[in-house]
Amino acid sequence: MTALAAPPGTVAVVTGHSRGLGLALANALLAVGVPVLGLARQACPPMAQLQQHALDLADPAALADWLATGALPHFMAGASQVLLLNNAGTVQPMGAPGLQGAEAIAQAVALNVSAPLMLCDAVLQHRAPGQPVRLVHIGSGAGRTAYAGWSVYGATKAALDHHARCLQADALPGVRAESLAPGVLDTDMQADIRATRTERFPLRARFDQLHASGALVPPDQAARHLLAHVLSEAFGQHPCTDLRNLPAPT
Ligand SMILES: NC(=O)c1ccc[n+]([C@@H]2O[C@H](COP(=O)([O-])OP(=O)(O)OC[C@H]3O[C@@H](n4cnc5c(N)ncnc54)[C@H](OP(=O)(O)O)[C@@H]3O)[C@@H](O)[C@H]2O)c1
Repeated sequence: MTALAAPPGTVAVVTGHSRGLGLALANALLAVGVPVLGLARQACPPMAQLQQHALDLADPAALADWLATGALPHFMAGASQVLLLNNAGTVQPMGAPGLQGAEAIAQAVALNVSAPLMLCDAVLQHRAPGQPVRLVHIGSGAGRTAYAGWSVYGATKAALDHHARCLQADALPGVRAESLAPGVLDTDMQADIRATRTERFPLRARFDQLHASGALVPPDQAARHLLAHVLSEAFGQHPCTDLRNLPAPT
């Protein structure tokens, strides 16, 4: 497989870098020399060129406080290109309205929508004149097809799709944006789905079957595929894409 290549001087902000797809994205970027700023509640093992900040992204006030520290512009300073990978997310609360709970809904919207939008705004506020930026929302097929039990998750992911569409309409020079659905991945999120009672998620058997048949994609494989697209000329031509429809790296 062709090695991933990023232009020299590229830096990346990755949310939810502590496990799952985010950890795989951070590892793949670090492996090709791209410094990573990771934001999650937990840390992953220290690595050269990885900066980590412990942050609850479901708490907009905590994120605003962190943005006020100046750590983000400090990280971006002098970079030839900035990647923002809005990856952190939750599939909770699952269940139809009436079973979801006010606090869980508010946290899901804060994590899945507010945090990505706040980080996009901050990156574009702080970029140097002409500094190229690639904004990546990790979307989901659940934002494009309606699934019983996933009204909160689907609505938050649909919001990211529409944010990417509006960013394309903004047409800011040097800014490319995309909401990218990664496919069905073998991560804790899928384990969370399989642990959910069918009363809350009627399609659970389908996900049990995907797991049992080995159809879940390893996050490292998805991360390499995703980054090959993000770093390509094709990135940003369409606001909403699905990794399963994008050419795999050769
Ligand atoms: N897995 C799939 O099949 C699938 C399919 C479609 C889309 N996606 C999307 O892909 C992205 C990654 O999913 P995944 O499967 O890798 O999920 P995961 O294994 O559950 O990992 C979620 C990541 O988000 C972080 N996170 C969760 N809550 C957080 C909070 N309150 N503050 C800060 N960080 C938080 C976690 O870090 P901490 O716990 O350390 O905070 C973790 O690093 C998500 O946006 C998800 O919606 C996944």
